[in-house]
Amino acid sequence: MKRTLGTCYYPEHWEKSLWADDARRIVEAGLTWVRIGEFAWSQLEPKPGELRFEWLDEAIEVLGAAGLKVVLGTPTATPPRWMIDKHPDMIAVDVDGRPRKFGSRRHYCFSHTGYRKECARIVTLFAERYGKNPHVGAWQTDNEYGCHDTTISYSDAARDAFRAWCADRYGSIEALNTAWGNIFWSMEYNSFDQIDLPNLTVTEPNPAHALAFRRFTSDQVVSFNRLQTDIIKAHSKAPTSHNYMGRITDFDHYKVGDDLEIATWDSYPMGFLEDRVGADAAHQKTFARQGDPDFQAFHHDLYRAVGKGRWWVMEQQPGPVNWAPYNPAPLPGMVRLWSWEAFAHGAEAVCYFRWRQAPMAQEQMHAGMLRPDGVDAPAIVEARQVRDEIAAAPDVQNVQAPVALIFDYDADAAWAVQPHGAGLSYFGLVFDTYKALRRMGLSVDILRPEQRDFDGYKLVLGPGLMHMDAGLKQALTQVKAQVVIGPRSGARDQNMNIPLPLPPAIDGLDVVVDRVESLRPDSPVSLGNAGAFTGYRELLEGTADVVLRTAQGEAAVMSNGHTSYVAGWADVAGWCAILTPLLEKAGITVMDLPDGLRVRDTATERFWFNYGAEVVQYDGRAFDAASVTRDA
Ligand code: GAL
Repeated sequence: MKRTLGTCYYPEHWEKSLWADDARRIVEAGLTWVRIGEFAWSQLEPKPGELRFEWLDEAIEVLGAAGLKVVLGTPTATPPRWMIDKHPDMIAVDVDGRPRKFGSRRHYCFSHTGYRKECARIVTLFAERYGKNPHVGAWQTDNEYGCHDTTISYSDAARDAFRAWCADRYGSIEALNTAWGNIFWSMEYNSFDQIDLPNLTVTEPNPAHALAFRRFTSDQVVSFNRLQTDIIKAHSKAPTSHNYMGRITDFDHYKVGDDLEIATWDSYPMGFLEDRVGADAAHQKTFARQGDPDFQAFHHDLYRAVGKGRWWVMEQQPGPVNWAPYNPAPLPGMVRLWSWEAFAHGAEAVCYFRWRQAPMAQEQMHAGMLRPDGVDAPAIVEARQVRDEIAAAPDVQNVQAPVALIFDYDADAAWAVQPHGAGLSYFGLVFDTYKALRRMGLSVDILRPEQRDFDGYKLVLGPGLMHMDAGLKQALTQVKAQVVIGPRSGARDQNMNIPLPLPPAIDGLDVVVDRVESLRPDSPVSLGNAGAFTGYRELLEGTADVVLRTAQGEAAVMSNGHTSYVAGWADVAGWCAILTPLLEKAGITVMDLPDGLRVRDTATERFWFNYGAEVVQYDGRAFDAASVTRDA
């Protein structure tokens, strides 16, 4: 499959007289795809039942006639104002019990059956009308599930649906009481109708209750999405997709992805830098105009897994955004770098958000490929360069990486419910592990926790997998590769209780977690010359070999054969020290890349990305600032 480009376009925002020229210029810039429709509900149905689809028919025709392929978005992220009058209780409710208001977007609760029916109705109208339209090359369901903290809703609709979910999952109230340990603090229930949502409790709610609610919420997103894909697939053969986000983990993306043919995600490297990457102020300053050098790559690898190999960037940052704490312009070259980085990780398409900067409403300050007056903005110039480069480059190629890193959304939920220390998160732990692998120049495949076949990998990592089911534990004992788990892997059973025998309870690995502690940010546990455990550490017992000790002499890593357990949240230097000898054993040569320089291998190409604002030297070569170098 050829690598392709695209953009996000809102025909409803512009005079019809502009559409044909926009389409012509989109084609001229080398773009193939144009995503439309995802927020257009009030223009398609200004009043209940009053349908006005003619303008969308015409827009699709104009874009298609110019040679573009349309990604048609369902408009369910933006129910119009009249919908709230019709279903006042469809509004999502925040953790403090406050209803979200109309006036932006994503104000619906996933559990509201009336709103679900409205969604089914509008999606059916879309699918029947455009399912066989030759210009519709793909579909997008809704827009960014989870954006603006809208996955979890504490509404009455959610409460009722949660009770039904509990009844279905646990069978009897006695079974639920036992699973959750409700004997503690007299929290036992007599019936499912007594169960409330785990917010506004006097002190923290039972973690088992909170985790069950997160699992329920995730299932609601899956079924909400499936409602749409079932309808679309009944009328259309075009692939379906959803645009996921950076570091939004409130639902199981793999399960949503199972109902879609393509995973896409919205990549805003500079937007993410300050509040999602978790970097210190110095790092933020260094990469203020580039974004974090590992954050995009991590999500490319994650969404390749979510998409079962097929994935795109649906929204690529083109210039300053409007929503980050600070919104500088990217360094010249970064739009090209970000685009190529996605292709290096196997993206089929990179679409820039948005075509023309909007002169009105919330995103006035968000750059586009064009200025509001239609004049070229810097992004389009770099997109044209990418157009010329991909014309001469090989097709999309995915190749198995030497390293596998398991990412489990359920573990993320369990850590969120019980972090055990301020600032500790599963995402943060896994991302630190990933950063270390990237510093060592390694390409990584992210795998889902249901993975059982690890053939071909040299190193398999499962840090922080709070609950590991028996099948995964068993599969890991069969792996020929080096296997690294811990900290907190297998620390809870599926109900969020401490399991017996004590963790990690892996056959053939004689290690027991004796005690755990969380650490103040200013009190890491030194690993000597090899970094530190920060935030969280464990004390281990057992007869396995101690292969690394803390500066105080406690076991930091213990191994039996090819399986190792890491007793803490290692920083990047710590992970490098832990993994280097294991990688050597596995026959992999590691690099020691300078900050900002990163490598990614495909079947036939090696890409070098310099996120730095200066030329950087490595291994006798010089890499320009904000540049991509492709060794074919
Ligand atoms: C995304 C969203 C778009 C737009 C964009 C601005 O999160 O999907 O609709 O708001 O951010 O950067």
